[in-house]
Amino acid sequence: MSFAEKLLHWHETENNRQMPWKGEKDPYKIWLSEIILQQTRVEQGWRYYENFIKNFPQIQDLANAKDEKVFKLWEGLGYYNRCKNLLDTARFITHNLKGNFPDDYSKILSLKGIGPYTAAAICSFAYNQPFAVVDGNVFRVLSRIFGIETATDSTEGKKIFSQLAEKSLAKKEAAKYNQAIMDFGATICKPANPLCSSCVMKNDCFAFKEGKVNLLPIKEKI
Ligand code: ADE
Repeated sequence: MSFAEKLLHWHETENNRQMPWKGEKDPYKIWLSEIILQQTRVEQGWRYYENFIKNFPQIQDLANAKDEKVFKLWEGLGYYNRCKNLLDTARFITHNLKGNFPDDYSKILSLKGIGPYTAAAICSFAYNQPFAVVDGNVFRVLSRIFGIETATDSTEGKKIFSQLAEKSLAKKEAAKYNQAIMDFGATICKPANPLCSSCVMKNDCFAFKEGKVNLLPIKEKI
């Protein structure tokens, strides 16, 4: 079985992580969750996400809200630029794109506040398009399993990891695969105290076999 097949099998049979945006197909809701989670832990972001969706069930509701109300709901999350970009983009989509969230990677990437990670997350989760997400979880899982000892934050490392991420992706099941690799990184292949002894990948894992689990991934800067 390939890495992607094993990961999807783990996702179907053992992954019981629950989160309100999981399996969501509405690009607005996915975008909102990803912006909230950019500098915020899942446990903290969860209730902000639910509160936003309750107050603004659709992108038009967010676009038409008063700035003060939106900033008030954002309070505690910090990085207020995220909130400002969120509002600007909601208004842009509502007023300039007839409320239709784009479904094209480069159009999504051109929106304010959306970088390659978020564009890939929206394209894969909402539209099942074959874009691999590359976040901290993905760096960790790929570096350990495939034994990548190049720093994740080096120019070369970024290239190596994004190529490996694209190559490893289950292209026909990008939504499931991307959610699976994030959940796997968050619950099994954790930064500290990873659950190697019960891990379904342990026999294929470079880091486990070489005793390097705690040494990977490598970062240049701390
Ligand atoms: N962090 C950012 N996006 C996430 C997602 N979809 N699931 C879990 N953690 C995440």
